[in-house]
Amino acid sequence: MNSPFTLRTDVYPAIDPSSLKGSLTGLNALVTGSSKGIGKQIALAIATAGANVCITARNAAQVESTRKEIAEQAPNSKIIGFAADVLKLEEQEKLVQEFHEKLGLVDILVCNAGDNTFQPFHLTDAKSWWDLNELNVRAPVELTRLVYEDFRSRNTGSIVYTSSRAAAHDLPFTTAYNCAKTAITRFAGTLQAELNLIQKIEKGVGNGVAVYSIHPGEVSTDLHSRGLPQNVVEKAPYVGELKARLAKTRPKFEGGLPAWTVVWLCAGKAPALRGKFVDCTRDVTEQAEAAAAGKLELSVH
Ligand SMILES: NC(=O)c1ccc[n+]([C@@H]2O[C@H](COP(=O)([O-])OP(=O)(O)OC[C@H]3O[C@@H](n4cnc5c(N)ncnc54)[C@H](OP(=O)(O)O)[C@@H]3O)[C@@H](O)[C@H]2O)c1
Repeated sequence: MNSPFTLRTDVYPAIDPSSLKGSLTGLNALVTGSSKGIGKQIALAIATAGANVCITARNAAQVESTRKEIAEQAPNSKIIGFAADVLKLEEQEKLVQEFHEKLGLVDILVCNAGDNTFQPFHLTDAKSWWDLNELNVRAPVELTRLVYEDFRSRNTGSIVYTSSRAAAHDLPFTTAYNCAKTAITRFAGTLQAELNLIQKIEKGVGNGVAVYSIHPGEVSTDLHSRGLPQNVVEKAPYVGELKARLAKTRPKFEGGLPAWTVVWLCAGKAPALRGKFVDCTRDVTEQAEAAAAGKLELSVH
């Protein structure tokens, strides 16, 4: 926990919801994995900030109940729901089509759906290792591809990938997850660098599309209760012990922390953070200052 930046566990003045209210009015947001957990908090914050939002995940009943809940809490925004499995390209295509029909073009894309399993490499079969990578890397990359030309041609919008501290740490027993989150983090940074170049070359303008990856903080969600397969409990009890030890040492992070950080980023508050891995558990204005000075390293503290 040795960091140059102030620890944050819940909303704080820079990302104060009351000051960000209305900051996304008129925009349309697609948030994957938004039926529950961190994605639901992000969707609610984006809607509260004025944008129309599409709630999506696999479980249709949960998508609909979250859609209703957010529509009640953000009555000025249009909230739609669509059940889709992001691992199936044809369902991602239908999701984008539905979005276009009901809301219009995507201004904010938050690729948040993801999962993790604590499993030593020697107890992980090849299929589940690659499946986890598909969910955390292929799915967000392919969803990006489906809306990318609209972002490029309009030269505006924000894309956020929910990464993890796993992108910056060699945390044991999560090789698949660490590789996946590292990949999506590098994808975000590289896409930003590419956009910065090609918008200028092709259109002669400065790039207006912002791409970020975030570490949301260890927010208590279903992901934590699911993450330990039975074969690991039986054959490698040390994994559960490490997981419990880590859980005891970290602060309690609230879902509002990543949610309002995403709003703050999408409201264009910190151009210096474009392309960066933003650690939501640390003060974003301090990270933006460091980025502007060329001193923001890929790390979480
Ligand atoms: N919680 C943490 O401490 C933490 C820390 C660092 C990073 N993260 C990242 O934060 C993101 C959200 O995690 P969370 O903790 O909020 O997990 P969660 O509560 O389990 O929520 C995951 C969401 O993704 C959806 N989803 C999962 N697989 C999907 C699929 N194949 N197609 C479409 N939707 C799918 C789930 O709904 P369905 O199951 O109905 O599809 C749900 O809406 C993930 O990318 C995770 O890696 C979480």
